[in-house]
Formats: sequence, structure tokens, C-alpha cells
Amino acid sequence: MKTEIIRIDPGQPEQYKLDYCGAVLRYGGLVAFPTETVYGLGASAFSDRAVKGVFEAKGRPADNPLIVHVADYAAAEAAGRFTGRRQRELFYALGAEFWPGPLTMIIKKRRIIPDSVSCGLDTVGIRMPSNRIAAGLIRAARVPVAAPSANSSGRPSPTCFEHVLEDMYGKVDVIIDGGECSVGVESTVLDLNSEEPTVLRPGAVTREEIARVAGECGEYGWFTADVNIDKPRSPGMKYRHYAPKARMLMFSGAPEAVRRTILSRLRTEKSAGKRVGVLETEEQICYYNEADILLSLGPENAPEAHAQALFGALREFDAAGVDVIFARALKAEGVDDAVMNRMFRAAGGTVLPAEQ
Ligand code: TXA
Ligand code: MG
Repeated sequence: MKTEIIRIDPGQPEQYKLDYCGAVLRYGGLVAFPTETVYGLGASAFSDRAVKGVFEAKGRPADNPLIVHVADYAAAEAAGRFTGRRQRELFYALGAEFWPGPLTMIIKKRRIIPDSVSCGLDTVGIRMPSNRIAAGLIRAARVPVAAPSANSSGRPSPTCFEHVLEDMYGKVDVIIDGGECSVGVESTVLDLNSEEPTVLRPGAVTREEIARVAGECGEYGWFTADVNIDKPRSPGMKYRHYAPKARMLMFSGAPEAVRRTILSRLRTEKSAGKRVGVLETEEQICYYNEADILLSLGPENAPEAHAQALFGALREFDAAGVDVIFARALKAEGVDDAVMNRMFRAAGGTVLPAEQ
């Protein structure tokens, strides 16, 4: 397939370009576009055929549903419906606080949304992105836009145009070159159909922030959840994901203990002729000069910086051809809950205790 690359100004998106890309979506084409979280691979949520094309371009398992992106509440209500007044009020209260932005809310699906979007579930995840290109594109498309992250399935999500180009060139109609994603990890996925609203996937909107609006908020408990279970509440949770090609080993414990453990493991790997990478915070990275490649997550106390850096770093390790990546489990507070969730899954769902 011939892929067109269209550069759009992220600060002031050119309307004629948005109109063109919107038409491509409306008539059943695939368009990769930036959002504030990660780049998405969009298709008209009304087109079964286009949506199937998304699964094909990504190599995505057929049981992992897509999020539907909207530009206004009318479109949200066209895609999903509420089970009662309480749920409707909650949806709008959360929307007033966090939309447009990195929050996806799951409600019951309407029949107009094809089963290919929801993978047979009777629910649909809906999100109103804040990125100006994303918002303008969805508005111009005049259809709700089903979009997973624009990476090949299993690879780290793309946080800039170059990542999308790597994975999607030749497989989609248009790739928008629209700059870097400001958040860097995917949206918070919140289930509104359970007893209490429940976070299925942590993201930039934290559980504490949601609880402040909703009065309560549960979580899926990803740290203890087995990534290999068959029927998780969010199908996406079961896949080893965000994975670099290298083996990733994640250690928990006091920074000094982790440092000793990683250094001793690192030397063993190096003497076996392996290429080694270390992913650490700015404060810790200086201890690992023996590694082949060192990448920083930013300052220790800057979770937002960690979120921005993570996926790009995983791709850089791939490009550098390392065999093993060592990393430390940070305190899962604020957005670091989302960052640790992604790292945990990149590490295949295991955290090793540092040796004492
Ligand atoms: O920030 C984001 O959410 C990005 C941008 C492009 O918006 N999109 C994204 O989509 O990350 P994707 O497909 O990579 O991840 C969607 C997640 C998956 O884990 C999927 O299983 C879950 O949301 N999901 C979607 N619909 C669901 C539903 N009806 N019930 C439970 N989980 C759902
Ligand atoms: Mg994804």
C-alpha cells in the first residue's frame, strides 16, 4: 500500500490538511495521527471493513477491542449508552474534569458500532483527546474514530512520528507527522459498568484524581495480576506488551541494593559477551558506565518525565541491539503507576527482588 506522509503543525493545525485526512477516514481509509498520549491508528468506527484493516496493519489479536475517539458528547452518546441516570451523571462529571484528555470510559455499546470494534463485547471504550491535531481530525472526519496505538502489536507504543513510520509505513493510507506526544503513555481505561468505577489500565489520569470526582474508584490491581490469564476484564491486559526485543529485567528494593544487584548481573552478562542496557533515573544512571547503552527516565521525582521517556527508550534499546535491559521498579505513585505498569509488562510480568 502507498502511504502518504502529511506534516501538520501541532500548534496550529492547517484546516485543509485536517479536512483531507478526515475525508480519508470517512471513506474507509486508515490514518495514523498524534494524540496527547501516544499516536493512534484511526479508522471510521462505523466501517467494519476499515476497522478490520486496523487489526491487519497492526497484527493485533482479534479479541482485543479498540477505543472509539470522539470530538463531542453527541458522538459519545451515538457510540455508547448509559445503564441509568447515575452512570450518565458520573460519565459527564468525569468528562467535565478530564475531557478532552487522557481518559477512556467504558460504557454499554450501541448497535451502530460494529462487533469488530468491540470484539464481541457489549461495551465500548470512549475517549475525547485534547491534542489539537487529533481533535481537529476527528471533527473533520465527522465519524467517531476507532483507534488503537499506532504500533505493530507487541511493540512499544509510538510517541513520535518516527516510531509510527518504523511500524506502519506501507501498511496504512496516511501517517500524520504531528510532533511528539506530550504524555507518552496511553490513556487511563476506566470501567463504568462495575459496582464502583474501576481502573482497568492506569494512565495519566490517576485513580486518586478519579476518586475525587467519583467518590470512589477501584483498580484492577495489575501488579498482582497474572498477565497470562485467559479472561481479564480488559482483554489488552493479557498480552505481554510494550515489549522491546531484548530481555528486560526489573528489580525492586532500595536503590543501593538494586544497584549492587544490577551491577553484579551486568558484569555476568558482559563476560558472557552480551550487550547490556540500563534504564534508570538521572540520579542513578551515573553508576552504570560499564553498560553498553544507558538511557535516562529523567529526574527521580518527575513521574511525568518518566512517562514521556519510557517508550522512546525501549525503542532505542532495540535500535542499539542490546540483549538485556536492566531497570528498577520505582514507587508506583501518580503517573508512575502507569509507567511501572508498562515496564512490568515489558518485563513479561515479573519483578525480581534485589539481593540483600
Ligand atoms: O491513549 C490511548 O488510549 C491510545 C490513543 C491512541 O488514544 N489508544 C490506545 O489503544 O492505547 P489500545 O488499543 O492500544 O489500547 C486500548 C486498551 C486495550 O487494553 C483494550 O483491551 C482496552 O483498552 N479496551 C478497549 N475497549 C474495551 C472494552 N470495551 N472493555 C475493556 N477493555 C477495553
Ligand atoms: Mg496499544
